[in-house]
Amino acid sequence: MVDLVVNDLKLRLGENEILKGVSLNVPAGEVVALLGPSGSGKTTLLRAVAGLEQPHAGRIAIGDNVFFDAARKVELPAEQRGLGLVFQSYALWPHRSVFDNVAYGLKLRNMPATEIKTRVEKTLSQIGLGHLAARYPHQLSGGQQQRVAIARALVYEPPVILLDEPLSNLDAKLREEARAWLRTLIVTLGLSAIHVTHDQVEAMAIADRVVLLDNGLVAQEGTPTSLYNEPATLFAAEFMGSNNRLDGKLMETAGGRATIDVFGEKLSGHARTQASPGSKAIGIIRLERVRCASAPGPNRLKMELKAPMYLGERWELVFTRDNVTVRAYANAPLQQGEHYVEFPPEALWVF
Ligand SMILES: Nc1ncnc2c1ncn2[C@@H]1O[C@H](COP(=O)(O)OP(=O)(O)OP(=O)(O)O)[C@@H](O)[C@H]1O
Ligand SMILES: [Mg+2]
Repeated sequence: MVDLVVNDLKLRLGENEILKGVSLNVPAGEVVALLGPSGSGKTTLLRAVAGLEQPHAGRIAIGDNVFFDAARKVELPAEQRGLGLVFQSYALWPHRSVFDNVAYGLKLRNMPATEIKTRVEKTLSQIGLGHLAARYPHQLSGGQQQRVAIARALVYEPPVILLDEPLSNLDAKLREEARAWLRTLIVTLGLSAIHVTHDQVEAMAIADRVVLLDNGLVAQEGTPTSLYNEPATLFAAEFMGSNNRLDGKLMETAGGRATIDVFGEKLSGHARTQASPGSKAIGIIRLERVRCASAPGPNRLKMELKAPMYLGERWELVFTRDNVTVRAYANAPLQQGEHYVEFPPEALWVF
């Protein structure tokens, strides 16, 4: 087992530079989530790794097996890279059975029929669809169709499986079940995977490492906890999690701490800015880190509670003051009216 390594990949589509120098490491046996907003280049990067798009610079290799190297003019065609690819639309053949959908690629490669049968049956049983081999796609649920699409990629026994938003066609509840299932499957089979998604919760849940892409460049990469808890930039902070944003003025920075003026009151947090005092600054805090208090105190702002909303497992509270809105969670609803909203200094980032 060897790592998949992408170095400084650049790719143009038409006039546009879509990938602007992307480097990426997929350690053997690990799941890497490729996360980013729509249009950031996730699908393009996945297709370049698979051999379906042609970069103009950079290198892609698994160990000694070089797939692409612009400097040495190496470019292996997709079918020789042996990677499993699952597209966002599963694109099953409607007039072929589950068995034949999974077997099709192996038949194209002229594999003997007995070996095809063994491989397909093994793959279908791995994904829990052994009993549905004779069915046609229209006789399957959405979740089962999506498993067939994954089986089609797994049947090649690829070292790395490339998944482009494989769960996005499923409804929310099914998607949560499917991501636990998929993570378990990948780990059990000892595969490496690149899992593309624009859903940050899915990325963190499914991956060992998250690579956050912004406009064709890697904005940040790391473990799910480091991306969530240690965002390096405003973009990363705002992309991960549900956030409150406080616009204010920078008062001072010292020893990694920054103080920001909001409504003429001081809030202290982690300094994530190099700006000088007096500049505009932005405070970011996750919804779940905001506290509600009944009296004034450090890092608290007086705000008005507008609308408590019941979410089932908790309440969401919406506070306002002037044109600023702050959302928070609570275990019980609070009285509408004035409250003190606390922004714990260890949970507030100042950009
Ligand atoms: N054939 C093309 N010619 C020119 N530009 C293209 C082409 N295909 C895609 N693009 C552009 O490349 C950029 C990246 O597209 P890509 O599909 O990789 O984004 P993505 O991150 O997968 O987005 P999404 O989350 O919406 O799937 C987009 O701005 C898109 O408009
Ligand atoms: Mg895409």
